[in-house]
Amino acid sequence: MSGPAQPSLGGATARVPAKVNLHLGVGPLRDDGYHELSTLFCALSLYDEVTVRAADELSVTVRGDNYREVPADASNLAAQAVLALARHAGIDDPSVAIEIDKAIPVAGGMAGGSADAAGALLAAARLWRLDLDRETLLDLAAGLGSDVPFALVGGTALGTGRGEKLLPVLQRGDFWWVIGAARTGLSTPEVYRELDRLRAERGEEASAPGRPDALMQALASGDVHAVAPLLHNDLQAAALSLQPLLRRTLRAGTESGALAGIVSGSGPSCVFLCEDEDAAINVATELSGSGVAKAVRTAHGPVPGARLVQPNHGSTR
Ligand code: C5P
Repeated sequence: MSGPAQPSLGGATARVPAKVNLHLGVGPLRDDGYHELSTLFCALSLYDEVTVRAADELSVTVRGDNYREVPADASNLAAQAVLALARHAGIDDPSVAIEIDKAIPVAGGMAGGSADAAGALLAAARLWRLDLDRETLLDLAAGLGSDVPFALVGGTALGTGRGEKLLPVLQRGDFWWVIGAARTGLSTPEVYRELDRLRAERGEEASAPGRPDALMQALASGDVHAVAPLLHNDLQAAALSLQPLLRRTLRAGTESGALAGIVSGSGPSCVFLCEDEDAAINVATELSGSGVAKAVRTAHGPVPGARLVQPNHGSTR
């Protein structure tokens, strides 16, 4: 989780990947308002960059795709991360300028806000020259949101609890994906509520989510054709219920030659697993042409989690 030393002229920058859930099993609603999960996270090569600099007051600036939809104030999860770290370290004056360069779709089910929080934690820790161990960082991350620990860890991991308890998972090979970002975002709590509503409507009792053993074996084999039919998301029906047009996006991706397509996390981004890089470029070209998605990107994974980098690192896009 620590990166190369950088000459910090009053600032430190972290680069943080997006995630996709290769499997998302959702259990019953818990007393604390969260759902018990069994999920397989995979970090993809689509990155936000977060820079934290010393300043006279706390501020947040957001650049990049859909930056207007991201709160540029203390309610931003990256600002919450800096404040939580300052409290933990006993720093009285957490005045910093946070700059977020976004490439991860906003409110897209790809953990963009969590990525920014993870990046802010790492960058602020470097700026303030704090020597935090991995457990402390992961605890702080879990306090900020269910997906923040995974943004720090990256790779491929099994998430349980509310998604914050992580175990690394063996994935052979580098898989190529196409990401179709939707025109409007979805609120994560709303999608979970919709799943509960759909289950109640069907008289379904949610059971404890099981470990996706078959998918884990397929990932260990590195065979993308074995992995594709095992991708699964319990939240997909709820996301489709709230945004029915996503069905068209899923159909367009698979008709363009993707091996499989699913809604990512709570959506509405749709992600398509492809045979290789060439196939991903073809699928992305067709999906862009079909006009069903607002923005289309290719990415590969697994990639490492949050890392400190030189500011304005060239290879992030
Ligand atoms: O942890 P995070 O802040 O990202 O979660 C946002 C919301 O998503 C929660 O308040 C909850 O409504 C829902 N959620 C859930 N079960 C989870 C994770 C998130 O119900 N395991």
